[in-house]
Amino acid sequence: MNTNQKLALLGGPPIRTRPFTAWPIFGKAEEKRLLRTLRSGKWGRLDGAEVAEFENRFAALHACRHGIGVVNGTVSLRLGLMAAGIRAEDEVIVPPHTFFSTASAVVEANAVPVFADIDLDTFNLDPRAVAAAITARTRAIIPVHFAGQPADMEAILAIARKRKLVVIEDAAHAHGAIYRDRPAGSLGHLGSFSFQSSKNLTCGEGGLITTDDDALADACRALHNCGRMPGGVWYEHHVISGNYRLGEFQGALLNAQLDRLETQTKTRDRNGQYLASRLAKLPGLYPQKRSAHCTRHSYHLFMLRLDTRAFGAPRAAVLQALQAEGIPASSGYGLSLPRQPMFQNKAFGPFLPQASAKLDYGKTRCPNSDLICREQGVWLAQSLFLGTRADMDDIVRAFEKVHENREVLNRWSKTS
Ligand SMILES: Cc1ncc(COP(=O)(O)O)c(C=O)c1O
Repeated sequence: MNTNQKLALLGGPPIRTRPFTAWPIFGKAEEKRLLRTLRSGKWGRLDGAEVAEFENRFAALHACRHGIGVVNGTVSLRLGLMAAGIRAEDEVIVPPHTFFSTASAVVEANAVPVFADIDLDTFNLDPRAVAAAITARTRAIIPVHFAGQPADMEAILAIARKRKLVVIEDAAHAHGAIYRDRPAGSLGHLGSFSFQSSKNLTCGEGGLITTDDDALADACRALHNCGRMPGGVWYEHHVISGNYRLGEFQGALLNAQLDRLETQTKTRDRNGQYLASRLAKLPGLYPQKRSAHCTRHSYHLFMLRLDTRAFGAPRAAVLQALQAEGIPASSGYGLSLPRQPMFQNKAFGPFLPQASAKLDYGKTRCPNSDLICREQGVWLAQSLFLGTRADMDDIVRAFEKVHENREVLNRWSKTS
């Protein structure tokens, strides 16, 4: 394509003025369930039936026998670690390129996050880096299915089996994603999902733990319910915990939203694959590589690497130009997790009182994650992928236009 058009950033006509699909999507079904819950007066997990229904449906959809709804996808990770018996100062391997919670939940479980770098093509944990990060203190691995593409679970599970490690999938991006015909959340010992506002399935705030293991499920149920044993005496508390139960209004919303998930996931995957195939043709653009084991990508994010030298302009300028063209692209995480002030300063509050003296996250080396955070990562949000192929074509045209105008953009970026 040769648009020969001036960049919108510099006063030309934008590629797109119409908004993309807005998020969240809701309608009569949500209204009906919410009103029914309101009028029932049964607003808490222990009173009504919405959360219980959702837990069963969501778990079944992810090929697990148990689902435990909790207040968010950070708590689900922490409770998963506690249920799995992770003890004070045990080590848990996590990727550095993920949301804060994947690692902060480990600290809040009083365990030590150890970072293993990601693969530069798939943006998921590199199993070789995982193997290299293992020590005598390692007890668990938390692979993140980044952006909605399942991690290399076969290799990770093989390492875990050999070392008797617990695997907790952080599936916060991966509702409905499928790995070798098996759903995300059913591959490790436990799975952790988030229903926070931006997620592919949302009720504003919420989370859920999946597992097929009866003992782990019982432990999670106790942990999310003030340490009460399932079926036990009401005022008997057996383990340290709190009230992390999901409420009935969230359950009502999630049940209605869940009816939409399958169609939405198929649409996102179709559009995501199409966009990846088109963008990969431009110099310097590397959309997340689809692994052979990925049966279905849930595209919570569409992420690509922008090699600024090959593309011909720096990321910040490219993003500004895309935004001016009507494409809401962003740069994603600005820092690898070990570079976050919390880790650099070991601001762990009451956690890790002994281990923290020996820890030095300044020494952690995760060059792939650093490169992506510092200069190459570009994100597009999931709701864009609920639109039409014409929406994808607009995104492609905007990238093409920015690339064609890279020299002028480069000059602009040096003077602005
Ligand atoms: C990869 C990942 N893990 C965990 C979480 C935490 O979920 P929540 O915000 O529901 O606590 C998020 C959410 O943003 C996430 O992106």
